[in-house]
Amino acid sequence: MLLSSILVCLLSQVSFASAGPNSSEEWWRDSFVYQIYPRSFKDSNGDGVGDLNGITSKLEHLADINVSALWISPIYVSPMVDFGYDIANFTDIDPVFGTLDDFSKLVTKAKSLGLKVLLDFVPNHSSDKHPWFLKSIQRVKPYDEYYIWKDPKIVNGTRQPPNNWLSAFQGSAWEWNEQRKQYYLHQFATGQPDLNYRNPALNEEMKEALRFWLRRGVEGFRIDTIPSLVEDDRFLDEPKIPNTGLPDTDPNTLSHIYTYNQHETYEVLKTWRDVLDEFNGTKKIILTEAYTNLTYLIKYYKYGSNIPFNFMFMGQLNNKSSPLDFKRDMDSYLNEIPPGEVANWVVGNHDQQRISWRFGVKRADWLSMVAAVAPGVGVIYNGDEIGMENRPMSWEETVDPAGCNAGRDRYTIYSRDPARSPFQWDSTTSAGFSTSNKTWLPVNSNYKTLNLEIQKKTPGSHYHIFKQLVDLKRHPVVKEGTTEIIVIHDVLAIVRRLPGTTPVVLLLNFSSNDVIADFSAWLNSPRVMTVYTASVGSGIQPGKFHNLTSFRLAPSAAVIFV
Ligand code: GLC
Repeated sequence: MLLSSILVCLLSQVSFASAGPNSSEEWWRDSFVYQIYPRSFKDSNGDGVGDLNGITSKLEHLADINVSALWISPIYVSPMVDFGYDIANFTDIDPVFGTLDDFSKLVTKAKSLGLKVLLDFVPNHSSDKHPWFLKSIQRVKPYDEYYIWKDPKIVNGTRQPPNNWLSAFQGSAWEWNEQRKQYYLHQFATGQPDLNYRNPALNEEMKEALRFWLRRGVEGFRIDTIPSLVEDDRFLDEPKIPNTGLPDTDPNTLSHIYTYNQHETYEVLKTWRDVLDEFNGTKKIILTEAYTNLTYLIKYYKYGSNIPFNFMFMGQLNNKSSPLDFKRDMDSYLNEIPPGEVANWVVGNHDQQRISWRFGVKRADWLSMVAAVAPGVGVIYNGDEIGMENRPMSWEETVDPAGCNAGRDRYTIYSRDPARSPFQWDSTTSAGFSTSNKTWLPVNSNYKTLNLEIQKKTPGSHYHIFKQLVDLKRHPVVKEGTTEIIVIHDVLAIVRRLPGTTPVVLLLNFSSNDVIADFSAWLNSPRVMTVYTASVGSGIQPGKFHNLTSFRLAPSAAVIFV
């Protein structure tokens, strides 16, 4: 009785939205998208920095793991203050990455391998070296209004920034320009002035940039930091969050009610959706980067985003979360997906620490397993498929502005360098990333034992597991089935069911002890099931039958049964 009432309480049924009318065109459904951080993927010319020809030479790897698309972080002309996210020309390639010709070769080869190429679109800001900004400083029309300029506030006769807004990279979000005699807004580095979307001419230029790449065969865009696109035009101070214990320069001391999530941002997004829809052929995809709450996140669907990134595994859920926390957040999210739209699960990216650092080395496969079994699209970051680990960086090695601006004492909290170390291809010089010993960020010293080449030869490695996970996405039960998220002691279970077939079951053990339970009773599953795949170190062999009436799951082990 007790058992059954607990079961009723912990089990909630989420019916997965059925495919919408245009779903057959939506090639991204039931697939994984793969993020490439170009500086760190593959260096073809020995300068220690990854490039386009390097990516092209490794496209077979992406075809091999069978992802549907590659999203490449910015490759445009850039002074590299924020390693490409500060763009000085939205329609050309930075020489460090190659040329437009190299880009065409990349697209042609990707297409021949059945891979879609997606680019990063960075609309919130340009570089301060962009010709628009240089002309804006000189008040040349129409560029004078392409950026957010404000007069100073004069306090006791001294010049102060117009308000208290803070940059995501620490300190005031305003920088004084002596030539124009005004402050400009930069929500990121001072070298990244914010663009002004209240100026229609500016958005026309940005739309042309989208068309430029769509004409070159790009099948969609990941849109960078979309919530900060438009600011409230009253320019009021943002409220301070009490008792954060953080320095006043830290952006987490303010509640960003005037700089994030403004309604006009969604309307601008809609204008970009219309541009993508001008292009015939394969349906074009928009993925949006927004670290925001569920209400604002879900709203992106309505304005044209196909994949508003779901960052729950890099935000509210971490290694301190319980299975119930996972269940609560996953259920809430799935329940909010509008009919016909598709869920997504981001496993890692270039702004976060590596999974094994966030969740522990033994749990390096967990999130890809969840992303595979849960309905919708999985998004992984290069290296996740082989369980790459953080490469801790000393202060001297740190180059990321988010780390450098936080200062020597606090850089480790903010620096994103540890997750950006070069891809570990093999055991040769610089892990096969570069022929040079000197790479832009150091290679992780574990590369001789942790690399793709070794994992290909090792049954049960992260690589082999990941390949199976991608295949599982196309399993009819995973494509069409209902979703139940169930907590049994310290185990989180995700069960997908389709009438008349065997369910697909994922179990994750959150405990530091073995869990032995009658999973078939808890899950209403067959008594005997077959292991499809299991996490590295779980001790569970794929292909083996197990009696789930008394099944033992080791600490941190994860297994998928079919
Ligand atoms: C996004 C990018 C991040 C970059 C920032 C500013 O959050 O993912 O890498 O620093 O935007 O462009």
